[in-house]
Amino acid sequence: MNGRNATMEKGLIGSDLKLAIAALQKGELVGIPTETVYGLAANALDESAVTRIFTAKNRPTFDPLIVHIRSKEDLIHWTKDLDERALNLASTCWPGPLTLLLTKKRIIPDLVTSGSPLVGIRVPNHPLTLELLQSLSFPLAAPSANPFGYISPTTAQHVADQLGEKVSYVLDGGACQVGLESTIIGFEGAEAIIYRKGGLPVEEIEAIIGKVTIRAHSSSNPKAPGMLKSHYAPLTPFILGNIQSIPQDAEKLKIGIISFKEGVEGVPENQQVILSANGDMEEAARNLFSGMRHLDNLGLQVIIAELLPEKGLGRAINDRLRRAAA
Ligand code: TXA
Ligand code: MG
Repeated sequence: MNGRNATMEKGLIGSDLKLAIAALQKGELVGIPTETVYGLAANALDESAVTRIFTAKNRPTFDPLIVHIRSKEDLIHWTKDLDERALNLASTCWPGPLTLLLTKKRIIPDLVTSGSPLVGIRVPNHPLTLELLQSLSFPLAAPSANPFGYISPTTAQHVADQLGEKVSYVLDGGACQVGLESTIIGFEGAEAIIYRKGGLPVEEIEAIIGKVTIRAHSSSNPKAPGMLKSHYAPLTPFILGNIQSIPQDAEKLKIGIISFKEGVEGVPENQQVILSANGDMEEAARNLFSGMRHLDNLGLQVIIAELLPEKGLGRAINDRLRRAAA
């Protein structure tokens, strides 16, 4: 370790690619924007850099990291035995919110995959991060840039707030356009399996490769430990329920509300997060994590959320709400 540039202020937010490149080349950590959530990135080929990710996040090393690459064409460097369906999805959905579980080549350290022969890999859809990846000679391992178990960050400020002194730089690419983590898919023989519902709706995947199995329910799924029940959890008690039936004196109770389209009477506006007044799922997804964060910072007694229709992005949103409530 060492080589920290004394002139580089840690925890600095900005859009200077040169600073991000220099830090990453030295094995340091950089917060990076993606279309899904912000990532905590390091050189995926450098074990000591990758170790820093686990330490900064307080993340157990049995929970593997997603590798971010610049293009589908680069898959050949890092993975082998590519499945036809995987190539098809990569061609159609990348850059985009889809992570493929593929057989890794030896150059990807076992630490990145927690010893698995499979690596989770994707091309993120964000112009700054794509430019960053083009400028580097290595891919970037990056989990969501939150402390283990907490809500994923969707702005550079969220990253700085929570990991500030642990990152060399946070590359500011604005608010995340999707707002939910990538969908994770793998292949077991003839079966295509979704291990995490995310920013790419299952329906869109099925339109490309046909029927898939969803195995994202288990609380102890070894294929995707990020699906541990406690994930995405705010610190405030969080429950799911019918928000229209909360008591009239809710004001005194310091309740927070997360609703899809409509607010409720009797709860101060600042304590209500309406995900999308137009009922637009994409807008709802974009607003979910920042809304949860906002309410979590108010010192409320409880947050009550209603579920969305169980289709399209609504499935992934509901998944996150259920986990927050678990
Ligand atoms: O949208 C995203 O996927 C974001 C951005 C930054 O790309 N990243 C993200 O990473 O959500 P993370 O680490 O918070 O969640 C990744 C999930 C974890 O649940 C992990 O267990 C699973 O992906 N995963 C990663 N590599 C895997 C592997 N080789 N086998 C099985 N699961 C894997
Ligand atoms: Mg995460």
